[in-house]
Parts: sequence; structure tokens; C-alpha cells
Amino acid sequence: MAPGSLFFLLSFVFLSFPHFSRPLNPNPNTNPNSAYDELKNRGFPIGLLPTNVRGYSLNRSSGVFAVDLDDRCRITLPPDNYLAAYSPRITGKLNERRISELDGIRVRAFFRWWSITGIRSSGDDVVFEVGVTSAKYPSRNFGESPDCEGRRPRKASS
Ligand SMILES: *[C@@H]1O[C@H](CO)[C@@H](O)[C@H](O)[C@H]1NC(C)=O
Repeated sequence: MAPGSLFFLLSFVFLSFPHFSRPLNPNPNTNPNSAYDELKNRGFPIGLLPTNVRGYSLNRSSGVFAVDLDDRCRITLPPDNYLAAYSPRITGKLNERRISELDGIRVRAFFRWWSITGIRSSGDDVVFEVGVTSAKYPSRNFGESPDCEGRRPRKASS
């Protein structure tokens, strides 16, 4: 599907987003840098997560994860400049080249917010799923973690 056509399709697709509560790994990893490594090790670009990760937990057998940010976060997604909003806690299931049951990331289009329900890594692209619809963008657009807008950049140790 051509980039950009996602939100055309969304204009007539009705979707609902059930919210599940699920048990989380009780041993959170407080090294935020390794959250980006977990993405990278499963074939995803690190730029899917903003720079303000505080910690995360991941059950390596089920893939169930939770990522905690310092605060909610807004960024502008390249290349179409859609506004994306991250909740302070993002949950889902992280497996090789596939994130499912995602909760906590939304994009603004057609005057409302749409939840991104899954993300796949496919060749050199990342595919964002919004219910039954998806849109694909080059992974290189997400090579660097974005700083949250309206906040002082907090760079990882370099
Ligand atoms: C991790 O996932 C496995 C498989 O679903 C489950 O059996 C186990 O209890 C989970 N561990 C924790 C700490 O939640």
C-alpha cells in the first residue's frame, strides 16, 4: 500500500480497540538503553521508541512487555508529519519482527486519534497496523529515537 493511503482508508473503516489487562513481568529492567536493544535484536529500528524511556519489562518466553516513559510524549512521524502520541506506559507483545496487541501509541488523522495495534518489520520497511489496515514506511526513517516535542532533549549517554 502506498504511504499515506492508510488514513484515506481509515476514513471509512470503523474500528474498535478493546483494552486488555494482562499480567506483566514483575521484574522491571531499569536500564532504559536496553529497551532499544531489545527492539534492534528483533529486527526493529530503535526510532520506534522516543528518547525518554525510563524502564521496561519483557517476558522473553511470551514476549509480553511494558515500556515506561518519563512522561507522555508527542512526536511528529516522518515523512508525512502525522502527530503520534505515546502514553506513559506502552504494552504489547514483542516477537521476532512483530509487535502485537500494542497499546499506548496513537496517531492523529482526520480529526481523531487512531491506536496503532501492531508493528511489523518487513524487509527494509516497518509496517504499522491500525486494526485491519496498515501502512508501510522505510525503516531508515526510524533510525534515531526522536525527542519528545516541547521538551528539553535528554540524550542517552554517548
Ligand atoms: C512468561 O511467559 C510464560 C509463557 O507465557 C509464562 O508461563 C510465565 O509465567 C511468564 N512469566 C512471568 C514472570 O510473567
